[in-house]
Amino acid sequence: MFKGSSRGIVWAALMVMTMTVLCSCETASQWVGGKEAKGSMDIDVTAFGRTPDGRQVRLYSLRNANGMTAGIINYGAIVVSLTAPDKDGNLGDIVLGYDNLQDYIKETPYFGAIVGRYGNRIGKGRFILDGKEYTLATNNDENHLHGGIKGFDKVVWADEPLWRPDGVGVKLSYLSKDGEEGYPGNLKATVIYVLTNKNELRVEYEATTDKATPVNLTHHGYFNLTECRRDILGHELTLKADRYTPVDAGLIPTGQLASVEGTPMDFRKSTAIGDRIDDDYEQLKFGGGYDHNWVLTKRAGAMTMAAKVYEPTTGRVMEVWTTEPGIQFYAGNFLDGTLTGKGDTVYQHRYGFCLETQHYPDSPNKANFPSTILRPGDTYETTTIYRFSAK
Ligand code: GLA
Repeated sequence: MFKGSSRGIVWAALMVMTMTVLCSCETASQWVGGKEAKGSMDIDVTAFGRTPDGRQVRLYSLRNANGMTAGIINYGAIVVSLTAPDKDGNLGDIVLGYDNLQDYIKETPYFGAIVGRYGNRIGKGRFILDGKEYTLATNNDENHLHGGIKGFDKVVWADEPLWRPDGVGVKLSYLSKDGEEGYPGNLKATVIYVLTNKNELRVEYEATTDKATPVNLTHHGYFNLTECRRDILGHELTLKADRYTPVDAGLIPTGQLASVEGTPMDFRKSTAIGDRIDDDYEQLKFGGGYDHNWVLTKRAGAMTMAAKVYEPTTGRVMEVWTTEPGIQFYAGNFLDGTLTGKGDTVYQHRYGFCLETQHYPDSPNKANFPSTILRPGDTYETTTIYRFSAK
């Protein structure tokens, strides 16, 4: 499946890891040549190339008891593949990405990655915290986007396989050093991906710090429930949000929480993404379509459904559940056919959409937004679930 990535080299570390996987499996007798028999969960660890500075990157191929699979690498904590059943029970890969590490290193609009230390934008890359001004790396005109020039999507994470009674996964950890991309404090971040037997991709985030710092971690998966047979405009979207955060031309929130009522931003009832995306509406001009944060209607911290997507030709349904207060819905407006991904698929305009659960963009500069500041002694903890079904 990932040709050219393993080069047939089995590294000692990999062997140790594979052994760990084998030993932690409760039904080890079912294993045949490192794989479990059909119908049971499986973790397979293989090499996925090396970074230019020689670091080995590993691919965790997860399979749940229903046969659904996820491929996750420890470079960028990237989900490189994710299969989900259609209405006839056929599994198909429903995320955008590349076949090999080199392509991810060369150029990616954050395909499938974890973005941080602060996902989304911080205006002018500046904020004041406890009376001190911090200057961050700017990488989106004058603004800071998705953690800066070398964010969490471009680093190698420590990795270990994870078995749960109801799923298989990988635990990824990264120490972001004090001063990295301009942020204060050594931040220890952990992201756990679990593919559950309920056909969910569960993402658990945790972080601690030794100095106060903003933190906002999210998963930047691009989904196309047609397996990229066409653009995403026919996907029908529901967002559990009465309000959104309007932006300026640089996509920085103005600070208002505006009602979606009577606007193309109203997804309270299931609506095709393409129905109003090109409406003559100023907010849509700024992002070249949808690229906004919606304010989820919920009790702070509660795990609730944030979004639901239905794709009529395949019958696939994706629900997004989260403990986070916001969600960025990005319609792939910057995809323009210049990137060619897995299986030589050309990613044309709006060939993938993202639903990034998060705190609101530019929160460190907006006193009226829920705080994103993590302090020493406290633990940042959020969970998001992508649940798949078909009808
Ligand atoms: C995010 C941003 C978009 C864009 C994409 C990557 O979702 O909100 O504006 O930068 O990432 O292309």
